Formats: sequence, C-alpha cells, structure tokens
Amino acid sequence: MTRHERNIRAQAAASHAAGDFACEVIAGLSASYKRLPCRYFYDAPGSRLFEEITALDEYYPTRTETAILRAHGAGMAKSAGRGAALIEFGSGSSRKTELLLAALEAPRAYVPIDVSIAALDDAVVRLRNRMPRLKVIPVHGDFCEALALPSALLDGARLGFFPGSTIGNFDPASAVRLLRHFGGVLGAGARFIVGVDLEKNPQRLIAAYNDAKGVTAQFNLNLLARINRELGGDFDLSRFRHVAIYDQQHKRIEMHLVSLGTQNVRVLGHVFSFAPGESIHTENSYKYSIERFQALAGEAGWRSSEVWLDARRDFSVHELILPGAA
Ligand code: SAH
Ligand code: AVI
Repeated sequence: MTRHERNIRAQAAASHAAGDFACEVIAGLSASYKRLPCRYFYDAPGSRLFEEITALDEYYPTRTETAILRAHGAGMAKSAGRGAALIEFGSGSSRKTELLLAALEAPRAYVPIDVSIAALDDAVVRLRNRMPRLKVIPVHGDFCEALALPSALLDGARLGFFPGSTIGNFDPASAVRLLRHFGGVLGAGARFIVGVDLEKNPQRLIAAYNDAKGVTAQFNLNLLARINRELGGDFDLSRFRHVAIYDQQHKRIEMHLVSLGTQNVRVLGHVFSFAPGESIHTENSYKYSIERFQALAGEAGWRSSEVWLDARRDFSVHELILPGAA
C-alpha cells in the first residue's frame, strides 16, 4: 500500500471512529449501569500512558511476555516457516514484535493493525529505520471489524500475533467470536501466537492495575479527558477516582471511574447525572488458566499446538493452528 492509500484509509477510519466514539459515549453514559468501551483509552496520550504502564514494577505482563518471546521466539519463528507474513492485532508500540521479526526467516511482510494512529505511526517509523528491508503495511482501524488484507499477503504462510493479553479485555463469549473472526482473516493453515495473562494472587493483580505512581489512574482518567477534548465534554477529572477490583467469580480485574459526589456532566448537549459513589465501568481484564484458554480457542476453531510459560507461571504464550488446507 502506498503512503497516499494508507492516508485515505486512515482518514476514513478516523472519521468513522469519531462518529462511533460519540454514539458509544452517549449510549454508555445513558445506561443505568454506566460503561465506556476500553478501546477508546488509546488516543495519543492514552497510548503514551500505556507504554509507561508497561515499565512499572507492579505491571508484570509486558516484561514477562517479553522474556518468554526472547527465550522461545526462535522456536515460534521456525514453525512459522520461511517467508511468513506476520499480522498483528492491536500492535501498539510493536516492541515485542521486533523479537519475533528478528527471529523469522525472510518474513514476507509485517502488518500491524491498531486503532491508535499515534502508536501505529511511531512503531512504523522505528521499524522502517531498524529493519529497512522489511515490508511494513500498517492498517489503522478496529480489528473487530471486517479487514480486507491484500490477497498477495494471504498467499503463503501466515503468522498471526496477538500479544499483551489484549484478548483478556473481551468477555469470554466475545473472545470466542474475536478469535473466530481472526481465523477468518488469517485463513486455514495459519499459525497464531497469543499472549494470555494467568490467574494469580488477587493482591498482585490489584497492584498491577492500581500502581503506586498512579499511572494506571491517569490512563483510566484519560478516557474522560478524551471525551472533553474530542466531544466538548465538561468532566471535572478531580471529581472521579480510579478504582481497580478483582472479581473472583468472573476471574477478572475491573477498572472503574467512581464519582466523588453528586454531579452533572454535559457531553454533546446531553446531561448525565452521577450519584456519590456511582461508577463508570471502563475495562475488564480476564485472567485464564491454560486449560480454560485452550478450551476457548478450541470453541473458536483453533487447535492448541504449544504453550510457553515463565518460571513463576504468571503469563502464557500460546501457539494455535487453524486446521484445514493451507
Ligand atoms: N500489543 C502491544 C499493545 C497492547 S495494548 C503489547 O502487547 O504491548 C492494546 C493495543 O491494542 C493498543 O495499542 C490499542 O490501541 C489496541 N487496540 C485495542 N482495541 C483495539 C481494537 N478494537 N482494534 C484495534 N486495535 C485495538
Ligand atoms: C491492553 N490490555 C491487555 C491491558 C490490560 O492489562 O488489561 C490494558 C491495561 N489496563 C490497565 N493497565 C493495562
């Protein structure tokens, strides 16, 4: 894709996304149980804050998954085979991806897909500098929607990559639908590397989502700041508090923004009333056992072929294969 074509696609995606953002914010704040979709965390400041989170002492997933990829990336790359196209869903900074790209033999192309144009642009500039021979084809958009990848990309070996436990941000039924959708994008015979955070002591989980420096709180509150910036909202950020709890029954961290008093907030001509202690539920982050994730992937049509863990069994990286003719 030329730069010109990508800009057209990016603009179309951005204006579509702006309309979606307004509709989803109005719908989410109008409900009796207020919610906002977590994919809207990732504007430019949100993507920067997420990168800060990945370096925090309490946030173990990124460094643990990176260590697993360092130790086993060569094995993953070998099974993908020579000339594979690497397609990544929610690529963010693409930093972990560099480990896989360096291990792959003559990769045909790298396709990072992300809703955050800022993260995508930074990653593409860095990768084109570091790996000038690699063909990078960025796609700005929502990976849940239909994705028409160039047909030349789909001829030959395909390796999907979905790291970071982003799958955990979907409830299990949506996660099955999403993995099935990715199967449709990647096609029969594809291999898929998926990072999945594991169940553990709730105190460690809560600390990972409520860090001492307050970076996760800023990341969560940035969603309200984004509504103010892009939709002319008048949220007073000092009147909402970041809360992270572990729901033992659903095995998920929940993030909320809790109102510190009675208040009205205006967005696009709508007035939303908050009672003291009333919450906006902004994110779930599901934690799995290896068996539960493999069963979920199986429901979506994927066969589990390998799983790699760190010594503490904090995080898992799964290799899945989509059966059928290659
Ligand atoms: N893969 C990186 C980033 C994880 S953060 C890592 O492992 O560190 C989640 C990333 O997914 C963000 O960059 C965010 O912008 C992107 N994202 C979240 N929901 C998305 C969606 N529905 N479609 C496309 N990208 C999405
Ligand atoms: C991207 N996603 C997997 C992160 C997570 O851990 O659920 C997002 C995040 N939320 C708070 N901290 C990090």
